[in-house]
Amino acid sequence: MRILPISGSLRAASSNSRVVAALALLDVPGVSVSVAHGLGDLPHFNPDLDVDPAPPPVEAFRAQVLAADGLILCSPEYAHGVAGVMKNGLDWLVSVIGVYEKRPAIINTAARALHAPAHMRDNLNVMTAGVVEEASITLPHLPDDLSAEAIVADPALAASLTQALEALADAIRADRDAA
Ligand SMILES: Cc1cc2nc3c(=O)[nH]c(=O)nc-3n(C[C@H](O)[C@H](O)[C@H](O)COP(=O)(O)O)c2cc1C
Repeated sequence: MRILPISGSLRAASSNSRVVAALALLDVPGVSVSVAHGLGDLPHFNPDLDVDPAPPPVEAFRAQVLAADGLILCSPEYAHGVAGVMKNGLDWLVSVIGVYEKRPAIINTAARALHAPAHMRDNLNVMTAGVVEEASITLPHLPDDLSAEAIVADPALAASLTQALEALADAIRADRDAA
């Protein structure tokens, strides 16, 4: 079971990127997590560029998504919207055959951010097999100096993230059993 967590923040000290990195450090039996890279290298989405082959950074990003069984999206909210970096990445996935079968989850790293998760949920429910709500969680405030390693060392945070990974894997297995 391959899970691809995607951070929508390009900030060096990003809380979303630290959570995504923490997911890859967790040891969940039967689940392999590798962090998406290159989101910031994507050109602005332009249907005129959505040809075969697409620009190399787009092909590389799509290959990561297609190789994954499940996605976990972590994005900042800016001005009541999803970070443009994340939305741009999603726009490049809309036309990709195979994305519709993927199962995503949303991990919200900021309890006060209500709009970005809601917007992503809408986007993902149109583009994919549907957000796995059991795997979608909101984390408590993460101090700026809490590294990915420290997140994993925190029993409550580690338990929440582990539960999210397990719930996502369970939903993907259930999809397969039903197919
Ligand atoms: C320009 C700007 C606009 C923001 N707008 C919102 C907002 O509308 N709602 C919110 O909850 N947080 C808002 N924030 C706060 C960020 O979402 C928050 O700092 C988030 O943790 C950043 O994610 P990161 O640590 O992964 O970079 C904004 C931050 C910036 C810089």
